[in-house]
Amino acid sequence: MLADHTTLSQFLIEERRRFPEATGDFSALIIDVGLACKAIARRVANGALAGVLGAAGATNVQGEAQQKLDVIANELFIKANEWGGQLAGMASEEMDMPWTIPPRYPRGKYLLLFDPLDGSSNIDVNAPVGSIFSILRAPNPGVDPRPEDFLQPGVKQVCAGYAIYGPSTMLVLTVGTGVHGFTLDPQLGEFILTNPRIKMPPTTQEFAINASNARFWEPAVKRYVDECLQGKPGPRGKDFNMRWIASLVADCHRILIRGGVFMYPRDTRDPGKPGKLRLMYEANPIAMIAEQAGGLATTGQDRILDVKPSKLHQRIALIFGSREEVERIEAYHRDHSGRKYETPKFKTSELFQSAE
Ligand code: F6P
Repeated sequence: MLADHTTLSQFLIEERRRFPEATGDFSALIIDVGLACKAIARRVANGALAGVLGAAGATNVQGEAQQKLDVIANELFIKANEWGGQLAGMASEEMDMPWTIPPRYPRGKYLLLFDPLDGSSNIDVNAPVGSIFSILRAPNPGVDPRPEDFLQPGVKQVCAGYAIYGPSTMLVLTVGTGVHGFTLDPQLGEFILTNPRIKMPPTTQEFAINASNARFWEPAVKRYVDECLQGKPGPRGKDFNMRWIASLVADCHRILIRGGVFMYPRDTRDPGKPGKLRLMYEANPIAMIAEQAGGLATTGQDRILDVKPSKLHQRIALIFGSREEVERIEAYHRDHSGRKYETPKFKTSELFQSAE
């Protein structure tokens, strides 16, 4: 059975052979990231049996209530990755400051940024969650990084990926040569290449947005969603479907496999917060994956991967998915910069037509 399948290690070794100067550090790092994800998958799967559900009783740097599993997943990422000598430093959603590798371990040439358990509000209701990671080169290999060393734009990522803890556990990653999906074989404890070269459909009839924020949306997003909702008789001439899992990894995975568009746009709720999601360990890795799968990722105005970060935990508007839809949403942002958009008014008589 194994003979027919490519394991994650085999995939990484075959990729490495294309670069004779490679040391093997990168493959070793990904294996350790994979190990952290396998350990998290086991905790998530055991759920209430392992006593890991519920709040941890603290808040993270974002001011969000930490779940017990957020804390456990963060520790698992650190423990799996700090010892190997591949990393100069790590930064996590759950830690205010970057993690300093303990003095007893060597410093390497990569930086690892991660959200150890994304969508953690889904844990207690047994819905899919995930881990997201981004790997950068350390500007000064072999020594502890300065905080500003992490602040590199997404185009500099050497690898981006996520693990999804759903009905099956999958690791999806890109090293800049397409997007590849590996499914965890729980008996073997190995990630097996099941979805090589994932390509996102360029067009879609499905969108994802938290509609409870509609009153805060900017005109371009309002117009896009209104047009989708009008369906076949409206300007798009086709019916749309809507999905919102409220777990970025799960929404991203669906869009990768069957197309769609995800929007967590900038809105008018809090002018101090340009969006909800974090640039360095959410938007950047998801954007690299989206682009590598043939899709696009934007703030509405700018390509996500070109944004120059100013803070480790900075937030950003994120719109990504099928190429044609993202291009349309960008065009609406250009059309409506400074121009108002009036939401179409539905006539009461139309709303109740079917009941007459
Ligand atoms: O990172 C935070 C996160 O949980 C994402 O995984 C998800 O896409 C989003 O927040 C959901 O936000 P909301 O609760 O506003 O729908």
